[in-house]
Amino acid sequence: MKKIALLLITGIIIGLTVILTRTGREMNFNKGYEPQQPINFSHKIHAGEREIKCLYCHFAAEKGRHAGIPPTEICMNCHAKIKKGSEEIDKLKDYIKKGKNIEWIKVHHFPDFAYFNHSQHVRVAKLDCQKCHGPVETMTRVKQQKTLNMGWCLDCHREKGIAPPNDHKSKAGGDCARCHY
Ligand code: HEC
Ligand code: HEC
Ligand code: HEC
Ligand code: HEC
Ligand code: HEC
Repeated sequence: MKKIALLLITGIIIGLTVILTRTGREMNFNKGYEPQQPINFSHKIHAGEREIKCLYCHFAAEKGRHAGIPPTEICMNCHAKIKKGSEEIDKLKDYIKKGKNIEWIKVHHFPDFAYFNHSQHVRVAKLDCQKCHGPVETMTRVKQQKTLNMGWCLDCHREKGIAPPNDHKSKAGGDCARCHY
């Protein structure tokens, strides 16, 4: 009898953990998420040591909603010439030879019911990428730094004075429709 009860409790605990973890993911609070990529692309080498500008690769961030992941052609601007052999660069060349896209694993997940636009923040508000993504130029593998939840958005909007706590109709402050429609 005791054994069955113990199994049952263990089952319930495991079940709850799975549900809670999945809900957490689905609610996009997966701060710290750091997936392994098909090629070990390192921001530390490219954006850090080689000082390549973020916008050189994520050029769409100034133009619209998404920052975008660079197409393989951008890699070839340099890697057509950089001959130095390594397992990871061989993988890159293999993708190119086969004309295949690299299937990068998405790090940040954002719900459909909320709206976020990069150009409003990068071009208009002139915020550094690091303000929201942390010191990416030091990362060998990208890791989500912030929760990306509503409170996080509003905290900065309040700090910047575009969301006075008592004014429900101001810019992206209390006006829900700015971020939800
Ligand atoms: C040489 C091109 C290149 C440069 C320069 C570059 N990135 Fe990236 N970035 C990539 C590639 C490729 C990926 C997809 C693989 C990965 O996640 O590591 C990526 C992924 C990301 C992601 C995660 C996207 C997701 O899946 O959610 C963020 C955030 C990011 N970069 C920010 C930056 C910032 C900030 C800088 C400047 C400090 C920068 N990148 C510079 C190529 C680049
Ligand atoms: C005000 C905060 C903020 C700033 C500034 C910001 N980002 Fe983002 N970024 C986000 C949020 C929120 C997401 C998730 C929403 C999404 O997928 O668009 C995201 C997602 C991304 C992604 C993956 C999804 C996509 O949009 O392609 C990349 C790549 C990225 N950011 C790169 C950058 C780069 C490079 C810069 C600077 C040029 C930058 N971000 C500036 C908040 C920001
Ligand atoms: C502006 C030039 C430039 C661009 C664009 C660029 N790289 Fe690089 N990449 C370099 C340099 C320089 C190195 C360092 C090579 C060395 O150590 O001698 C490097 C190193 C690498 C390495 C590490 C090799 C190793 O194992 O030591 C990989 C993998 C790589 N790049 C993949 C990519 C991918 C994927 C893209 C496109 C998203 C890309 N690179 C875009 C210049 C570039
Ligand atoms: C680090 C600070 C910061 C963070 C974090 C931030 N924002 Fe903003 N946001 C700003 C600033 C500054 C502006 C004002 C740009 C301007 O001058 O119009 C802005 C503007 C906006 C606008 C346009 C407002 C308008 O009046 O049209 C929207 C929509 C928006 N943000 C949504 C979001 C969402 C959604 C998030 C969270 C996922 C977020 N922001 C996170 C700083 C931030
Ligand atoms: C600055 C942008 C922004 C504004 C303004 C905003 N929201 Fe949100 N909201 C978000 C983001 C991003 C999410 C998704 C992340 C999350 O669940 O916190 C969200 C999530 C939500 C959720 C789902 C929360 C949950 O726990 O599942 C509700 C409900 C919501 N918002 C209602 C509102 C209402 C009502 C207003 C107006 C008083 C409002 N929001 C204003 C950005 C915003």
